[in-house]
Amino acid sequence: MAKVLVVGSINMDLVVQTTTFPRLGETLFGQTFATFPGGKGANQAVAAARLGAQVSMLGCVGRDAFGAQLKAGLAAEGIDTQWVFERDVASGVAAITVTGGDNAIVVVPGANYALTTDDLDAAEAAFVAADVILAQLEIPLPVVQHAAALALRHGKTFFLNPAPATVLPQSLIGAATLLTPNEFELAAALGAPDSDWSTLLPRLPGKLVMTHGKHGAYYADHAGKAVHQPGFPVTAVDSTGAGDTFNGALAAFWHLGVSDAVRHANAAGALSVTKAGAQSGMPKLAELNAFLSSQTQGQK
Ligand code: RIB
Ligand code: NA
Repeated sequence: MAKVLVVGSINMDLVVQTTTFPRLGETLFGQTFATFPGGKGANQAVAAARLGAQVSMLGCVGRDAFGAQLKAGLAAEGIDTQWVFERDVASGVAAITVTGGDNAIVVVPGANYALTTDDLDAAEAAFVAADVILAQLEIPLPVVQHAAALALRHGKTFFLNPAPATVLPQSLIGAATLLTPNEFELAAALGAPDSDWSTLLPRLPGKLVMTHGKHGAYYADHAGKAVHQPGFPVTAVDSTGAGDTFNGALAAFWHLGVSDAVRHANAAGALSVTKAGAQSGMPKLAELNAFLSSQTQGQK
């Protein structure tokens, strides 16, 4: 069983479903409204935990109703929440519009930005205990950099999911064992937003797994050659959190080797989009295994 430490965000997702995205200045009727637990960090933690990993979450919520609900939700998934700090600021929220399986998201970080490098030092034992440390970019960048430094100090595998998209400091790219962007985040991370992603894959030999939506994922082998692992065709209801499911699964299955880990992560990501909300569709291990054995590997 993999031991995974997630250092990242915890949000409440406020989700409306509409038939079209509103235009600037337009008022639309939506069909449904619901709140779902989310945040890239929490989502990745839940994905890994459902697949059997032993997971600790390091993050920060507000001392408010959302914060209490979010922390309890993580604990109910069997995740260790002793390093989920509580502060006198509003919990992070994401305002999400879902239209025909696509989404548009506005994140207000709130308490996620109250997480400090001192908090990470206080939780150093959690770094020591982990096999894989997984971080994203919805907490302050210096905190992510400190997580990378602690992972390095203790000789741990450090996955950086560089989302939301931003240019990454070279030192952080250097400190990561693996980067897991989608195609847009890859171009942004390397400071080449106008480049075709396919030309960028060879720039991170042996340390890149790039997700590509329903097409699956690519990884760069140690010679920088791109290897494609096709995705699994499913009917998308809500793609929110598909990338997070992929990342959590990748960490949970990393010990299988990159090719098999990516295959499992593709399948988990595919299953996750079949239900509304970031976490609702994330499979448990038995469900993932049943899906994998029922599939002949999908389309390009
Ligand atoms: O990756 C999806 C997540 O991004 C959502 O759960 C939302 O909270 C935003 O952080
Ligand atoms: Na979903």
